[in-house]
This record gives sequence, structure tokens and C-alpha cells, in this order.
Amino acid sequence: MSKSNLLIFGATGAIGSYITAEIVHARASFNRIAVFTSPSTLSAKAEQLSALREEGVEIITGDVTKKDDVVKAFEGIDTIISALGRGVIAAQIPLVQWADSTPNIKRFLPSEYGTDIEYGPSSADEKPHQQKLKVRAALQQTKDLEYAYVVTGPYADVPFFLGAAANPRGGTFDVKGRRAVLLGDGKGRVSLSDCSDVGKFVVHALTHWECAKGRALKLNSFTATPEEILAEFERQTGDKWAVEYISLEQLKAFEAEAWEKSQPDATSLTLQRIWTEGGTLYDRRDNEDIGAGDTVSLAGAVQKAIRAQLAR
Ligand SMILES: NC(=O)c1ccc[n+]([C@@H]2O[C@H](COP(=O)([O-])OP(=O)(O)OC[C@H]3O[C@@H](n4cnc5c(N)ncnc54)[C@H](OP(=O)(O)O)[C@@H]3O)[C@@H](O)[C@H]2O)c1
Repeated sequence: MSKSNLLIFGATGAIGSYITAEIVHARASFNRIAVFTSPSTLSAKAEQLSALREEGVEIITGDVTKKDDVVKAFEGIDTIISALGRGVIAAQIPLVQWADSTPNIKRFLPSEYGTDIEYGPSSADEKPHQQKLKVRAALQQTKDLEYAYVVTGPYADVPFFLGAAANPRGGTFDVKGRRAVLLGDGKGRVSLSDCSDVGKFVVHALTHWECAKGRALKLNSFTATPEEILAEFERQTGDKWAVEYISLEQLKAFEAEAWEKSQPDATSLTLQRIWTEGGTLYDRRDNEDIGAGDTVSLAGAVQKAIRAQLAR
């Protein structure tokens, strides 16, 4: 198969930056690497985009909601990678339809990189999953566009799972305060992904496409309980930490209140409740199927988190 010509949406975003960095790192595997971004991001993130340009990445500007801008950017492209943010997940539905009617576009990776939105029967009713489910439905209705979903569980990195939360009702690992708030009984296993590993998973999915296509790939860096994570923080900081627990029932009450009062942490509380209920766990993970078995360990993730928190 000839080398792919990639177009990335959301390339400068929280996870898009990692995905783009890993794609650039693996550039020998690809032909063209282009990113589609807005004129406002072109000025707001000028340094980041000029560093990409120096790496040979083409920067295309336009409005992601305007068909003319997007279809023009599709010229010569065969693979779309979207890392668009939560606020614009639905904007991918027309993107999928325009891609499907552009003969040279063969593959589409939608913005997933998180919790499995079809984990079980109750997934269909989870509020944060609704827009992503519609994007999956749009992909499944295309004529001959191939796709894969990169499902990673929560990000281990600060400011995500291993961060110090200002409002710890969704859990926290606070390095400076030597304090942890653990969810559930602290013994439930959660599968986490390091953000650089998420970028590598995308590269592996693209370079192992025959195996990846048509699948929701269940990928992670490591699996650990909150108590195991705390023990690793204590080992590496050399101190005993203060610890509190938030039971699953209490977490559900916070979640209900957050949605009822439109509080900003409603989505993350739902996701934390899903993770605490075991919604990131599988009989087997798919890393090895796409050659992505070499991942960050619990100790490596905690070391990074300590450094990141102390640098703030
Ligand atoms: N597993 C986890 O723990 C976790 C955590 C966070 C996010 N995620 C998932 O990762 C994916 C990407 O999220 P993210 O947090 O990385 O995204 P983000 O940083 O919020 O946004 C990514 C990009 O989307 C575009 N965008 C965002 N808002 C927009 C708007 N209102 N109008 C037009 N474009 C907009 C921007 O691209 P341009 O600047 O180029 O226009 C932006 O750089 C999502 O599917 C999200 O659910 C998972």
C-alpha cells in the first residue's frame, strides 16, 4: 500500500497535540501530513503551528463548518484524523458525509480517545456519549469510508486523572498537599492511557490498518486501582499521604446535582462514575493487535505526574 496522505482536525488541541507529535515522529510511515485549523488558532498558537511547519507539516486554514473550506482541504488526502474538542463533536457529522462523497478519502478516525461509548446497554443513555454516538452512526451509514475508533479510557496525565483537582469531588492526587481523594472503595481497577501513548495508538492504528479498520480498539497504557496509584505516589514522594474516599453512591449524588444545576464538572463526574463502575475494563485489550504493547507504566505515569504538579 502506498503511504497515506493525512489531514488532522484539532491538531493543536489537548490530545490533538500529542497525536500530531507522534504522527510527525513517525513521518517516515506517511506521505503528506496536513492540519486543518481556524484562522484564530493560526494567530493564537502561531509558535506551535510554525514548529509543525518546520517539521514539514502543511497548515491549512478554514472554517470546519464550511463545506467549501473543508472539501478544498481534502484535495490529495486519503485519511482524516479528527481530534476535535467536546464542544464540536457534532461538527464531525457533516465532515464524515463530505469525506464519504470525496472519492480520494478512504479512512476516517473520529474524535474518540476516551471512554468506550458502547461499553454496555446503559452506555446508550449516558449524556456525555450522545454526540459521539451520532458520529459513529454517521460513519456506519457511509458508502465505503473505512473507520476505526481509538478508545483509550481516561488520560493518566496531569491535569487529568493524576492531577490535583481544585474541586476534589471527582477524586484527586495532590502531590504538593500530600493528599488523595479516592473514588469508590479505592479497590476498583481503572485502565488509563498516557497522552503520548494515545498519539502512538493512533499511529499504530494507521500503520496496522487492515487489523484496525471497522473496530473500536480498546487500548490503554496500564490498569491500576486508586489505592495502587496512591501507594505509588507515596513510594515516589517518600511520604504517607492523607486519604479520603468518595463512595460510588456519593459520587452519583454529586453527578446528579451537577447535571441538575448545569455545573461545569457534570460531564467529568459522569465519566468518573463510569470509570469507577469498571467501564474501562475488558477481558483483553487490543494493544497487541496493532503492535502497541510498549506503553507507559504506572510508575512512569506517576513520575511524570509528580514532575508536572511540582512544576506548576
Ligand atoms: N480520555 C480522556 O481523559 C479525555 C480527556 C479530554 C478529552 N478527551 C477527548 O479527546 C477529544 C479531543 O478533546 P480535547 O480536549 O483534546 O479538545 P480541545 O483541546 O478542547 O479542542 C481540540 C480542537 O478542536 C477545535 N475546536 C474546539 N472547540 C471548537 C469550536 N468551538 N469551534 C471550532 N473548533 C473548535 C480546535 O481546533 P482548531 O484550533 O484547530 O480550530 C481545538 O484545538 C474529545 O473527543 C474528548 O472527548 C478525552
